[in-house]
Amino acid sequence: MMNQNEKKLNVAKAAVKHIHNDCLLGMGTGSTVNFLIDLLPEIKNKISAVASSSVQTENLLKMNGFEVQALNQLGMLDLYIDGADEATKNLHLIKGGGGALTREKILAENSKKFICIADETKLVKRLGIFPLPIEVIPMARSFVSREIIKYHGKPVYRENFVTDNGNEIIDIHNLDIVDPIQLENELNQIPGVVTVGIFARRKADVLLIAGEHGVDEIYP
Ligand code: A5P
Repeated sequence: MMNQNEKKLNVAKAAVKHIHNDCLLGMGTGSTVNFLIDLLPEIKNKISAVASSSVQTENLLKMNGFEVQALNQLGMLDLYIDGADEATKNLHLIKGGGGALTREKILAENSKKFICIADETKLVKRLGIFPLPIEVIPMARSFVSREIIKYHGKPVYRENFVTDNGNEIIDIHNLDIVDPIQLENELNQIPGVVTVGIFARRKADVLLIAGEHGVDEIYP
């Protein structure tokens, strides 16, 4: 039996094959992406510039010999690669378990192609078993939580956590996400919400899922 880290490494290796010459690359955040970052020095000549979705990823990229560029300097990226906390076969995602969802969503939106990499434990029929992270402006935390209760979700404040943007995270338990695009749109409208961890309006273009017998590529 392959363990979860072996699957993460396998899916990272599969993602490397999707990086083509002169790539303006965006890198996500999390343990799966970390496996990929460790492989990037082998294909450094293919990467013309790289942008990062978090301080954690930026530090790891630097340790691997990459200079990280500001998104404002780069414009549209060719490719964004990131993990997920949950993914469906429709390529809708929940992200933000690591708290990096805002910069991740900015990079995903600013990329021509978004490849999501994950092991098979992340694949679900319907989003919402993983608590949905929402980044909020600190002064709006209670207000947003009360609004979320109207959706029958249970908001839990992520204690002792500050995002790279100086904000806070509420994790919403017990949400039954029947229509991810609609819920993403609605929750985005609550004043004080910075980013909702549903990635459905800009979903992944390809989902690479590592299992016991290899890596599957799922397209919409
Ligand atoms: C970070 O904020 C998240 O969106 C990550 O992409 C997600 O938590 C995946 O992380 P792992 O690869 O560690 O599961």
